[in-house]
Amino acid sequence: MTTNASDPGKNDIFKIFRDRFFSMGRIASYPWAFVEKELISSNSTEVISQILNQTCCHPLCSDFPPSAQYRRLFLSELIKQEQEASHCDPSDRLYDALAQVIGAAETSHCYKSYFLPGGGAVTLQENVAVISEGTTGLVTWEAALHLAEWALENQQYFTNRSVLELGSGAGFTGITICCSLAPSSFIFSDCHPKVLHKLSENIALNQLDPQVVQVEELDWSCVTEEQLRAVGADTVMAADVVYDPVVVEMLVSLLCRIFAISSPDVFICSTVRNTDTYRGFVQRLEHVGILHEVLSGPVRRIFPYNRESQIEIIKLYKK
Ligand SMILES: C[S@@+](CC[C@H](N)C(=O)[O-])C[C@H]1O[C@@H](n2cnc3c(N)ncnc32)[C@H](O)[C@@H]1O
Repeated sequence: MTTNASDPGKNDIFKIFRDRFFSMGRIASYPWAFVEKELISSNSTEVISQILNQTCCHPLCSDFPPSAQYRRLFLSELIKQEQEASHCDPSDRLYDALAQVIGAAETSHCYKSYFLPGGGAVTLQENVAVISEGTTGLVTWEAALHLAEWALENQQYFTNRSVLELGSGAGFTGITICCSLAPSSFIFSDCHPKVLHKLSENIALNQLDPQVVQVEELDWSCVTEEQLRAVGADTVMAADVVYDPVVVEMLVSLLCRIFAISSPDVFICSTVRNTDTYRGFVQRLEHVGILHEVLSGPVRRIFPYNRESQIEIIKLYKK
């Protein structure tokens, strides 16, 4: 039995390899049982070839590769799977792919790509370390992926609307919305200079229309009334901005000021890591008279992230 590229079930699995590889998902989370089964039942290494085509030999990998360390880890696991199942030396293609990354220098940044349902991908340059240069904003967090999935199912809040994103970080959610949902204008914002720089680079990398998008330095602790009035968005959104009681205080006071001057639809998507911090956020909202409703999460799984994390999207209302 050979691996048939036109078999829809198998193609879906090769896509899982592609999606995990380009978003640098956990190596253990790949469908390795499928590879083992294929290698044993077909007695052929075609499955390895197909996986290489979707990962290290995919055209995207030459321009925007995941980190060298990640590619080495991935290829080592693929070699291990092949050797354990077929008890022979790794195929030449696999060796060639490994030879290309074995001497590659480590860098502090890498590329991650997230494939869109309508075709194409959002590619971001991100830092390898989760926290670096004194900020959490140089990588994409799970809440950003979750909020983007939800946005794709709730386009009425984005298409032909002016949107403001708070704490945009590396820019994944906003870039996905701009690529897929045609907002009339989209303001990305953050407070950290290195984050704002990376954000601008990622926006350029994804060739967003400069007539539609803008990057603003908007620090919740010192944004002026004038700045908020100038933004005047129909939709305000933020992902993973509830992670520290000090940050929460500033965020709630900013939301109060936004509601004092306009009535946008406001969505906050949070990974609930610390229930006290999250509960503190919700209590602060209630205290200042902002109501909230917990929304159902996205139905369709589009982007790869750990589904076991507790992630919540709330819509806020002025009392
Ligand atoms: C955990 S990151 C989330 C980034 C992105 N939204 C995501 O989910 O991938 C939090 C972001 O909030 C930004 N941030 C924190 N405090 C802020 C403040 N006072 N004003 C504006 N942005 C802030 C940080 O710079 C960082 O980019």
